Amino acid sequence: TSTDTISASLLAWYEGLARVLPWRSPPGTPPPDPYRVWLSEVMLQQTTVAAVGPYFAKFLARWPTVKELAAADDAEVMAAWAGLGYYARARNLLACARAVAARGGAFPGTEAELRELPGLGAYTAAAVAAIAFGERATVVDANVERVVARLFAIDEPLPAARKAIRARAEELTPAERPGDFAQAMMDLGATVCTNRNPRCLLCPLAANCAGRRAGAERFPVKPAKA
Ligand code: ADE
Repeated sequence: TSTDTISASLLAWYEGLARVLPWRSPPGTPPPDPYRVWLSEVMLQQTTVAAVGPYFAKFLARWPTVKELAAADDAEVMAAWAGLGYYARARNLLACARAVAARGGAFPGTEAELRELPGLGAYTAAAVAAIAFGERATVVDANVERVVARLFAIDEPLPAARKAIRARAEELTPAERPGDFAQAMMDLGATVCTNRNPRCLLCPLAANCAGRRAGAERFPVKPAKA
């Protein structure tokens, strides 16, 4: 099956079943503002969707634009972050907001330029480029890693498998709607292609999934114990 067929099946599934989340635009509609995408992706990196919801709302209400966040008092931002954990993220958030404010308040529109901002890593650069700017950037988080390792039955154990997983994920990423594609992969990983008890009967990619035949739960292969 061609990669086009796989990404088209996934996008069709997403059109009907995308999770409705406060930082998203519905599938196929204009993207949300880069500030919302960036803020949500930073919060979502080590925190669940359910836990992020109220914090995302609180930050947007208090600091509706990146310029306002950039002008915030550090202590107030740290206090608003309390409970989300991993406080380095909040410090990076402020450093990045201030760099964006210093360039006039507009996020740069490509993955490569986003990567140059302080406090903004590879994952966030790809996510903002794809979701907010429609660049064909490939977003790989743990959910995407699991989906891809299963789809292609990648036998190599983690972490070595990451290189092959990324290459496969890049091949699958469509030129059209890469942001919907990225979020569809995340939704599939979170709701269907789950770590335990994957719901293969509900999966739009089941017919194309090499891992399913071998038992999807075997993938990704865990590192050998020392
Ligand atoms: N996890 C990280 N980014 C996400 C997004 N945009 N939607 C849902 N879950 C996510």
